[in-house]
Amino acid sequence: MKKYMIQTYGCQMNEHDSEKISWILDGMGYELTDNREECDLIIFNTCAVRKSAEERVFGQLGELKSLKRINPNLILSVCGCMMQREDIREVVLKKYKHVDVIFGTNNIHKLPQLITRHLESGKTIVDINEENREIEEDIDANRKYSYKAFVNIMYGCNNFCTYCIVPYTRGRERSREPEKIIEEITLLAKNGCKEVTLLGQNVNSYGKSLEKKYTFSDLLKEVNEIEGIERIRFMTSHPKDISDDLIDCFRTLDKLCDQLHLPVQSGSNRMLKAMNRKYTREDYINKIEKIRKINPDIAITTDIIVGFPGETDEDFQDTLDLVKEVKYDSAFTFLYSIREGTKAATMEDQVPEKVKHERFQLLLDTLYPIGLEKNERLLRKNVQVLVEEVSKNNDNILNGRTTSGKLVHFPGSTDLIGKIVNVKIDAVKTFTMEGTIVES
Ligand code: 5AD
Ligand code: SF4
Repeated sequence: MKKYMIQTYGCQMNEHDSEKISWILDGMGYELTDNREECDLIIFNTCAVRKSAEERVFGQLGELKSLKRINPNLILSVCGCMMQREDIREVVLKKYKHVDVIFGTNNIHKLPQLITRHLESGKTIVDINEENREIEEDIDANRKYSYKAFVNIMYGCNNFCTYCIVPYTRGRERSREPEKIIEEITLLAKNGCKEVTLLGQNVNSYGKSLEKKYTFSDLLKEVNEIEGIERIRFMTSHPKDISDDLIDCFRTLDKLCDQLHLPVQSGSNRMLKAMNRKYTREDYINKIEKIRKINPDIAITTDIIVGFPGETDEDFQDTLDLVKEVKYDSAFTFLYSIREGTKAATMEDQVPEKVKHERFQLLLDTLYPIGLEKNERLLRKNVQVLVEEVSKNNDNILNGRTTSGKLVHFPGSTDLIGKIVNVKIDAVKTFTMEGTIVES
């Protein structure tokens, strides 16, 4: 059997795309391996959101040149967001001539024919589809876990935040038909799936591209009715599109997890405007207050960019103050990275790297104690945990997540994997907790 590997960079959307690619390759008779040396096919599913991720891909491609020399039959393929950019494709074609197949985010389904075309011609095949971004419904996915799954509900983004490359790589917003989504989740539930994460660049605007009036809250309500599904999560939300109807779902829908990822990006109104985020810090805080009124235990997480062009010490202080006010459970923090083709790339007053790094450290120093404090609130409490897997370092320890998305380690046997158990929290750290299983 031919062997393959997929190296995935970036967000959950890419992770799920790789699960789809894996399903296609299974159908072609390929078998997964974690050993590069024995691969017949290596695919890089790339991310274009920050330069650092791009540089890592180029580094890896460079390294693979020698592997290709040893194994000339090895097929090397690059896909994902980086390949949606013409300038990057040109670099790959010019500098990494050992790459055999290049495809984009809209033509994953064509992979079998692209590989065949390469094998027949011996040439580098490039297939990018920018015009027709219709949703391909006929691809299934090889999911990593049977009890939790990512489900795409929409693709693309219309927001054009000035720092972000996504609207250029993933195109305009397209929602999947609700019937297709419900069908997919019902089938997953029948096969033992308990937790779904609904995926999209901005899930709150789900439905806007559909013919009938149907909103994200309508979808959540329907998913909540699916027998067998016990937990619903979603990623990512835009603060400007969090409706009262959606906030109310946290009260009315028993399966909706106590977790909301709501990227704020900055606490400075001046920066939010320059970022084209279309909300103020006051609007944001107001929405958080509304949500916490409904459920004070909901874990709020966020994305923050440090060093956006023109960010002054005062702007950055506004971000630190907002972090202290909102009290995030955790946050993904990013150094602003120039993305050619976006509006912010040409803005004046780019912040020096040294200043960015100093602010980044200050931000972490502010976030971590708050995260720890949030976790301490769970000490000696009983929480429901979906058991996910055996710990990497200790066979007797299991890992799982609370409905608020927190990672818990506890002793237990492998037959509990995929089940929801009651765990008493005995100790907490900034990013993890330890506990023991108790009777519910
Ligand atoms: N530089 C740094 N961070 C970025 N993000 C998006 N574009 C950039 C960029 N150019 C971050 C945002 C977004 C997350 C997925 O990545 O915080 O929410
Ligand atoms: Fe990028 Fe903004 Fe769209 Fe998110 S909402 S994908 S940050 S443009």
